[in-house]
Amino acid sequence: MIDLSGKVTLVTGGSRGIGAAVVRTLAGAGGDVVLHYGRSHERAVALADEVGRERCHLVRADLEDQACVPALWRDAVAWKGRVDVLVNNAGIYVAAGVDADFETWAATWARTLGVNLVAAAHLCREAVRHFRERGGGAIVNVASRAAFRGDAPDYTHYAASKAGMVALTRTIARGFGADNIVAFVVAPGFVRTERVERRMRDHGEDSVLDEIPLGDMASPEDVANVVAFLASGLARHATGATIDVNGASYVR
Ligand SMILES: NC(=O)c1ccc[n+]([C@@H]2O[C@H](COP(=O)([O-])OP(=O)(O)OC[C@H]3O[C@@H](n4cnc5c(N)ncnc54)[C@H](O)[C@@H]3O)[C@@H](O)[C@H]2O)c1
Repeated sequence: MIDLSGKVTLVTGGSRGIGAAVVRTLAGAGGDVVLHYGRSHERAVALADEVGRERCHLVRADLEDQACVPALWRDAVAWKGRVDVLVNNAGIYVAAGVDADFETWAATWARTLGVNLVAAAHLCREAVRHFRERGGGAIVNVASRAAFRGDAPDYTHYAASKAGMVALTRTIARGFGADNIVAFVVAPGFVRTERVERRMRDHGEDSVLDEIPLGDMASPEDVANVVAFLASGLARHATGATIDVNGASYVR
């Protein structure tokens, strides 16, 4: 049912985890994908080879330096002459609680807001300007359950960055709907990625699974399928909405 042929999607943080599943799913549905990555060059190249080089264009940029965003966007647009969908997936999850020294606390807030929210906002700005000229487009921002429920105390900055992403997305949906621009949030709970697998090794499986009524974690593909659906244009009137992917561990 989902046919993305003819659509060009920029996926940030596409070399691993949820982002890699999104790249595979979009390409599998016939889409062309600009795979943005930060440091994992080998993985990005391997994934581009896997889905087919004619289907996948690689762009490298470190989002810790948000000034890179206009050049990143220009590079993405230059491949096929346009981008139809932006998926802001790249994100970091770094601990710093109230008992950390002030420098660590402040640096972690700045770094997390920078990568998770400000870089995503700069990309949304580029996308809105481009979509307005082209008669429309779609944005899918990958936030988190933490935006609504909050997170563990060591991750106040992470939860705040994801809540900011929700407000950013809703504002774009309301402000630019008349330009045929739609914007959605996808809010995962725990997703079985390498990071979460590590946490389960350190703290035990139960630390994650106990809180999920479905009894297992979402797979990266679960999230990718939702992103593909939203990117396809099949849910245009759901613009502004958040789709939760958390196995009912937090029902809003
Ligand atoms: N895994 C989960 O349980 C979970 C839950 C809720 C939300 N999320 C969100 O989903 C998204 C993907 O998470 P994931 O679990 O796949 O994480 P991950 O750590 O496996 O992947 C994150 C991606 O972001 C990229 N990235 C991080 N910092 C970057 C930088 N400075 N410059 C360029 N790229 C950078 C990484 O290279 C990687 O490709 C994130 O936004 C995360 O917050 C994940």
